[in-house]
Order: sequence, then structure tokens, then C-alpha cells
Amino acid sequence: MGNLIIENARIITPLGNKSAKGSDMSKLSDTPDSHIVITDGRITYVGNKEGMPKPDQPEKYKTISANGNVVMPGFVDSHTHMLFGGFRPDEFEWRLKGDSYMSIMERGGGIQSTVDSTKKASDYHLVNKTFWFLKRMSEMGVTTVEAKSGYGLDKKTELRMLRLLDYINKQSDKFIDIVTTFMGAHAIPPEYKGRTSEYVDVLISMLPEAKEYADFCDVFCEKNVFEIEDSRRLLNAAKEHGFKLKLHADEIVTLGGGELSAEVGAISADHLLHVSDEGIRQMADSGVVATLLPLTAFALKEPYAPARKFIDAGCAVALATDLNPGSCFSGSIPLTIALACIYMNMSIEETITALTLNGAAALDMADEIGTIEVGKKGNLIMLSTDNYRVLPYYVGMNCVTTTVFDGEIVYDAR
Ligand code: NIG
Ligand code: FE
Repeated sequence: MGNLIIENARIITPLGNKSAKGSDMSKLSDTPDSHIVITDGRITYVGNKEGMPKPDQPEKYKTISANGNVVMPGFVDSHTHMLFGGFRPDEFEWRLKGDSYMSIMERGGGIQSTVDSTKKASDYHLVNKTFWFLKRMSEMGVTTVEAKSGYGLDKKTELRMLRLLDYINKQSDKFIDIVTTFMGAHAIPPEYKGRTSEYVDVLISMLPEAKEYADFCDVFCEKNVFEIEDSRRLLNAAKEHGFKLKLHADEIVTLGGGELSAEVGAISADHLLHVSDEGIRQMADSGVVATLLPLTAFALKEPYAPARKFIDAGCAVALATDLNPGSCFSGSIPLTIALACIYMNMSIEETITALTLNGAAALDMADEIGTIEVGKKGNLIMLSTDNYRVLPYYVGMNCVTTTVFDGEIVYDAR
């Protein structure tokens, strides 16, 4: 927990302790010549130089100047599958030649191939590999990241993944926070082919132990994977065990995942490339965060999710990377921003809200992180420029120079 004073910052931030919905997503506070004080990892002052209280023990504070450049909340990447064995570049090539994500999965490749590699990989290897991703994320300004299990698909390996994520979170707690999701419902393991409902029973029996390590439960709600009734049964059982809920919804076909997320009271529904208009309306009415993952649409050559429809319907939209070895091997925040602005017609302001406050809301943490306001965690980033509008203009290039986590500088390329 650090004590830090940042002088002369142009602070760009959404405001509030709840998701920003609809037209509120474009409201950013923009205050040049500002100072920020972080005490014991928490923001204790935001304002002009004149109003800044003199710290009791000034010698305990590190002071840096932003030199007028942008300071923003740290990014929240609220959807990743970052813990996995092996890689799947062969499938990527097959898809370039016309194969589809689902046909590869149905042939026993896809997620199942990563399950096999994850089972074979040592803990040491998995932890090191995940740390490499976490370091790269931190350089791009990510201070909170969600991570899912789901490459085990049996009790032993699912719990092993959750324990490893817990271990990694403790080891990395000086530069990034990890929020863990149980996603045993990522695919149907071959031994349960044609017996999805029995596999759902197995998943339900894992919930009490999974809850020791995970806050969220997620399901790949998709045609020929976990269809609506299986997803509903699992999610309702998870809710009874105290899990917060997420869904991979309407990713490949329109199935009613958006509607189901509203029905079960999910915190977020994710992907939504093929969501129905009714699903959008119900999500808006129920306050489900629509987490859109443009890197996946890009990598799968699929149409982008209808971000404008969500925002115009009054929904809260979050953006995340979906980093995983199959559908989207990228954790690039800069490219996520560029794709959202170029192809999803989101404004720069909406994009920033989607990656900060609404990312936090997608993890049910909007009262703790996601804005630069007194009382929130001292997680923020500095850009190489005083103009936040260049974020999508830097296509795939990083203009984050400094990442601050809990008031400590954890990445610095000034
Ligand atoms: O979000 N659709 C399911 N899960 C991931 C892909 C995981 C994988 O292919 O390994 C996704 O796209
Ligand atoms: Fe995913």
C-alpha cells in the first residue's frame, strides 16, 4: 500500500459508484492542473493545488508530476481465460482457411485440446505463463483482471485451476488484482457427450468447493453446448450457493442468452454478438452489464456486437479482452479501444467508461475501483499525452507510461 502524490495531472475519469448506463457512458470528468493524493493505497484527495491538504507525514509520500498529461483510472479487464496449458496456433490457421470455431470444437479440438494441455502442464509452468500475461497487462494499464477456470472440466482439474488462480492472485497482489470465476461449464467433456444434464449435475456438486476460491460462476450458454435449460439450472444453483453470475451469451448464434442473464439476475452477460433486440431490452431493464469483446469478433471474423443498440437502449456496456488460447489470443487493451471506436461506433468517452467504471461494475466492484474519486483504491494510469482522444488513434499501440496500483508505481516507462 503506497503513499503517493501526483501533481499537475489532467484527470480524465467517469464518476460514481455504479455502472454508467446509456448516455451517461459519455460523461467524463476532465480536470486539468489537478493533484491526487493516495494514502495507504486509497485516494484521499483529488483537486487543485491550493486545496490540497498538507500530509501529516510528508516524508512518507513519493511525489511525481504528470507534467500535464492524462491520468485515468486503471483499466479493468473483466473477462479473460488467462490460465491455460499449450497454445492453439494450428486452429487459428485452419480458421484462416475457412474452418469455423464450432466445427473445430465439435471435432474434439478447441477448448478440449486446451483441457488436455492444461492437465499435462505442471503448476510451475502454468503459474509462470500466467505471470507473463499479468506483467504485459500491467504495462497496458490493467490494474484489475478477471480470470476463469474452465480448462479442467473435471472436479480435480477445475479445483486445481481455481487454487492456482488464488495462488497467483496472492503472488501478484503488489501489482494487479485478480477476480476469479468458476467456469466448469466451458464445454461438455467427451465422457459426457450427449449427457449434458448429467454433467450439469456434476458441476452443481462442485459448487460448494469452487465457492471457496471463486466469486463468480460463468457458463458457455450456446447451441450444442449448454443450452438455455442447462444454463438456467446451473446458474440458479450457483446463485443459491452465493455465486454472482456471468454468461457467455449469444456468442455464436441467437439463443436467448441475453434474456436468460436478465431472468437469473446476472451481473454481466458477455460476447452478445448475436443478441436479440428483446435480449437487449431485458438486459437494460434488469441492469445486466453487457460486456463486449471486440478482439474475439475480430479474431473469429464475426460481426461485432451491437454496442450502439445496447447504449441507445440504456444499457451499461463494458469492454474486455477475452484473452484465451482459442477464439482470441490477445489481451491487447489498445487494440480493444481501437476496434470499439472504429467498428462498434463507440465514442472515445464511452470506450473509456467501458474499460474502467463499467468494467468494475461487470465485476460488482464499482464502489471500489473504476474512477478517480476519494475513497476508491489508488489504481490509476498515466498516458504519454495530455489528449485522451488519441487512445483509439494509437491503433494497437500503447500510450500508457505509468501504472499505479494501490498507490505504488508498478510500471514506469516515463
Ligand atoms: O470466450 N466461447 C467460449 N470460451 C472462450 C473461448 C475459449 C477457447 O476457445 O479456449 C470465448 O470465446
Ligand atoms: Fe470468454
